Amino acid sequence: MKKTGDVNESIAITRDIHWVGFYERSTRLHCNPYLLIDDQEAVLFDPGSIPDFPVVMRKVIDLVNPGAISLVVASHQDPDVCGNLAVVEDVISRPDLRIAAHAHTHRLIQHLALSSDRFAVDEHGYRLRLASGRTLEFVPMPFLHSPGAIATYDPKTRSLFSGDVFGALVEEWDLFAGPGFPENMASFHQAYMPSNAHLRAAIRRLRQLDIDRILPQHGSVIEGAQVAEAFDFLEALPCGLDLEER
Ligand SMILES: [Fe+2]
Ligand SMILES: [Fe+2]
Repeated sequence: MKKTGDVNESIAITRDIHWVGFYERSTRLHCNPYLLIDDQEAVLFDPGSIPDFPVVMRKVIDLVNPGAISLVVASHQDPDVCGNLAVVEDVISRPDLRIAAHAHTHRLIQHLALSSDRFAVDEHGYRLRLASGRTLEFVPMPFLHSPGAIATYDPKTRSLFSGDVFGALVEEWDLFAGPGFPENMASFHQAYMPSNAHLRAAIRRLRQLDIDRILPQHGSVIEGAQVAEAFDFLEALPCGLDLEER
């Protein structure tokens, strides 16, 4: 199991992917924004909330000039995912900044008074090409837990930025998942995901991809053999409507 490192600094997950989140010991629900650096360009995933903003932005600035960020990806519209988008836009201050999200998400986040160009992934074949030629692929994760929820797959590093899916609530948080990690995903999915059928449909889609690591917006990074373990666990997990009394 990899060591988390200093949580007061950004943490490298691969050579070009960095965790830039805010850690607080008393919080069970940690948010994980990630920065992908590709040549001269950078992509910020799920930048997070207003309270987390100062720490997230400091960690980003330690890695890149904010003006290098050409794209922000929002997996869905929750406040813990993109509550700080308007201030993030201000700091990036780039007229050609794009925000990538599903159209169902854009319809809601426009109420954050955003000024950047809207890139609706579902109107562009669920793909986006960066300046270097690197292509990001977006995977629909319908109703997990939002109608327009998406994950982003980076074929170059075989990494999946999964949004809330594969998220976890934990007492003792670690950036990298350890033995027995799937149990930590149970209560979050049971409470926030609509049904096991929705989860199974998404995992069937994810199984078509060659995934080395999953980077969820909460909980821990899941790598190597843990990926299959996580798929098997969620495929068998009743949640949401499955647990309602009929
Ligand atoms: Fe959410
Ligand atoms: Fe979330």
